[in-house]
Amino acid sequence: MTESKLYIEGGRRISGEIGVHGAKNSVLPVLAATLLVAGTCRIHNCPALSDVYSSCRILRSLGCKCRREGQTVEIDAGTVSAYEISEQLMREMRSSIVFLGAILGRLRRCRLSFPGGCELGPRPIDLHLAGLEKLGARIFEDHGVLDCTLPGAVTGADITLTLPSVGATENIMLAAVIGTGETVIRNAAREPEIADLAGFLNACGANITGHGSSTVVIRGVDSLHGAEYGIMPDRIVAATYMGAAAITGGELMLKGVRPSDMYSTVSVYEQMGCSVYPYSDRIYISAKKPLKAIKTVRTMPYPGFPTDCQPIVMAVLTKARGTSVIVENIFENRFRAAPELRRLGADIKAEGRVAVIEGVPRLSSAAIVATDLRAGAALVLGGLAAEGTTTVSNLHYIDRGYESIETSLRSVGAKIKRM
Ligand code: UD1
Repeated sequence: MTESKLYIEGGRRISGEIGVHGAKNSVLPVLAATLLVAGTCRIHNCPALSDVYSSCRILRSLGCKCRREGQTVEIDAGTVSAYEISEQLMREMRSSIVFLGAILGRLRRCRLSFPGGCELGPRPIDLHLAGLEKLGARIFEDHGVLDCTLPGAVTGADITLTLPSVGATENIMLAAVIGTGETVIRNAAREPEIADLAGFLNACGANITGHGSSTVVIRGVDSLHGAEYGIMPDRIVAATYMGAAAITGGELMLKGVRPSDMYSTVSVYEQMGCSVYPYSDRIYISAKKPLKAIKTVRTMPYPGFPTDCQPIVMAVLTKARGTSVIVENIFENRFRAAPELRRLGADIKAEGRVAVIEGVPRLSSAAIVATDLRAGAALVLGGLAAEGTTTVSNLHYIDRGYESIETSLRSVGAKIKRM
């Protein structure tokens, strides 16, 4: 079977309104968390993404009932029986590691294959495992398979993360929520998706405080009950569409977003010379003036500038007047959009953690290949700005995080189709 490609006729100004779907990085841990619940959960605002389908497959493989109706997923984990995730399902989605804490919390035993590396470079889980061990877990690794047990009730622990890992914070929260003692996570990740996970767990009867700050406190409860919960909007998807407006000199109203989660990204677009107006649940961006280079953009843990937005902003800066520098502090291998953007005529030098971008007056079309999720989205932005017809292949990466990116962009004037 030949894989489909996006065909983008670039050079058209983006203008209109886009509704932003639920956050991938929030829905995945929330779906894993439903394993801990004795009762039925209805999760609203679930985006139609391949990673969400993979999570549902994992839940079913563990014995849960999982039904999807539009943007709502209903999960009944009352029938959960298995504690093992197959290697095939683990490979489908690297972030399935977040099931580890949830399965341990529910069944006290979990077997899954080690996630290993990914497109962004090595993806260690040492902080996840050290935190779970502090909660009392025993962990054995054999030929890439992790076998974990959590004998007895979780009686609490004081855990300091050496760096504020999102996944480690989530896994520890999930494993500690049912128990008798108090668990404190220090130097916890402060990402809004952590607060969303805590919001869901608390709606189910958990006792979590401090989420959104660097000290999260989890007081163990006997059990969790079913609940309805709405997933927060995807701040990275919102930032991507803002990039589409910026790189085409257009304007957009993004609906259903939470601007308070996006200050560092808004600031970067403002530094480029875009006008950005945040409202309570919408953001308007207009890029009527020529884009300006930015001296330095550094990726940092939240509330710093997100690594996930870095390739997006790199694409936009290819058209900004002057020299911009990006310093990537979170992942090793996050400049994979650079060689493909160069094929469109961008002037980017990337070495180690630093990329230097000289803005060019025009980009021109080429056949380019997505190498990971956000790099893929960055290439779509490049294609929107490039003269001629650009093709982007390897769309399975983009589909992991964007619900039909071409439909959203077409609705605001882009000439883009999937064939
Ligand atoms: C999550 C997001 C991802 C985002 C990233 C950083 C999900 C599904 N994915 O990934 O989109 O780019 O946060 O905001 O939510 N590290 C260790 N040891 C560990 C864990 C992490 O050294 O045990 C390192 C990583 O290599 C990386 C850094 O910590 O350099 C941040 O990783 P982490 O916050 O854990 O990211 P993820 O949870 O994997």
